[in-house]
Amino acid sequence: MRHKRSVVTSGPRARDLYAGTPRLGVRAPRTKPVATSAGTTVVPTNARVPAPADAAARGPDLAAVDLSVDLAPKRPGHLVLRNPVLVASGTFGYGIEYGEVLDVERLGAICCKGTTLKPRAGNPPPRVTETPGGMLNSIGLQNPGVDAVIERYAPLWAGWQVPVIVNVAGESIDDYVGVVRKLDGVPGVAGIELNISCPNVGKGGLQFAVDREAAAAVTAAVRRATDLPLLVKLSPNVADIRPIARAIEDAGADAITAINTLSGIAIDRSTRKPLLGNVYGGLSGPAIRPVALRIVYEVAQVVDIPIVAIGGVTALDDALDYLAAGAVAVQVGTAIFADPEVPLRIVDELRAYCAARGLASHLPLVGTALPARPNRPSSKGVEYRP
Ligand SMILES: Cc1cc2nc3c(=O)[nH]c(=O)nc-3n(C[C@H](O)[C@H](O)[C@H](O)COP(=O)(O)O)c2cc1C
Repeated sequence: MRHKRSVVTSGPRARDLYAGTPRLGVRAPRTKPVATSAGTTVVPTNARVPAPADAAARGPDLAAVDLSVDLAPKRPGHLVLRNPVLVASGTFGYGIEYGEVLDVERLGAICCKGTTLKPRAGNPPPRVTETPGGMLNSIGLQNPGVDAVIERYAPLWAGWQVPVIVNVAGESIDDYVGVVRKLDGVPGVAGIELNISCPNVGKGGLQFAVDREAAAAVTAAVRRATDLPLLVKLSPNVADIRPIARAIEDAGADAITAINTLSGIAIDRSTRKPLLGNVYGGLSGPAIRPVALRIVYEVAQVVDIPIVAIGGVTALDDALDYLAAGAVAVQVGTAIFADPEVPLRIVDELRAYCAARGLASHLPLVGTALPARPNRPSSKGVEYRP
């Protein structure tokens, strides 16, 4: 029997996540307790702003829209973003690389490149190839190691308004804990995103993310090692995501990010051999969006923590789909390679979309596609019918 920890709510829980949590760490939301047949629920009173009579003449009030979102509502420090559009790990470097082409400080947050305990040279080339509707990559977590990240980048991040979430990878629980211990308390590090789509050497190379116990164990170990907001990133390469998502929540994650890339390969048509140097790669881009949407939709029905959706976001409509499926924020990845302006365009268009509809925030858009009474499935996966 699963322990229910959320405040009593009457609708899909994703819609009610922000009832009673501070915004931007300082402002209390305008909420009021409302008695329902299920007990007392807390509803935001600022969910809708009644349009003044002359609103049409003046046009939508963009300044009235508050796009902020808290990705760690239960953590004392919180992780409040100015807007719900992040950039995905591995597609935005350490944030500084794009400083010349866009105003990175206007992003909701930056998830930096996967960081490991020791430097990694990455996989042999070729490492990327285009695919229909996306790309395959096998970068192999090339990175300078956590000490270099702390020395080179964290001092810059500390001066930025945009939170930087460090994406952490490892091959053992000790690896993950070692990286996180070093990051804990470093100015400029706003949170941790655990990339658990990594082989667990202690379990014959089985990825942490596909093994419920290993996913929970690494989450719990990292939770014990830091008070930083902790996001855990799901892999789509599993038969049923729901028990894994629940185990991660129970192990202390503040939020779930979903999804990482889908496993794939490509064949070199001149040699008829595997094209990528590592044979296997990760598929990303619009091609994976329906899969990511399905996963967000399923996870939103079984966890109480915020969900950040990733997978093929290229435009506002994609972001709106993910909100409807239960995510409170989105990350943009592969689309940045074609057009680095995509994330900020989505921020601006989301604000305009909310203003045009008299919404004070994007949060009323969250979870509209979810069943009215979430069907809490068992962890056995028997309900999954494609
Ligand atoms: C070139 C490349 C490198 C990536 N590196 C990482 C990484 O280091 N850590 C991680 O968690 N995800 C990594 N990802 C996965 C992305 O963060 C994202 O989950 C995935 O690409 C799906 O989003 P998209 O379709 O918007 O790209 C990488 C993706 C790409 C394309």
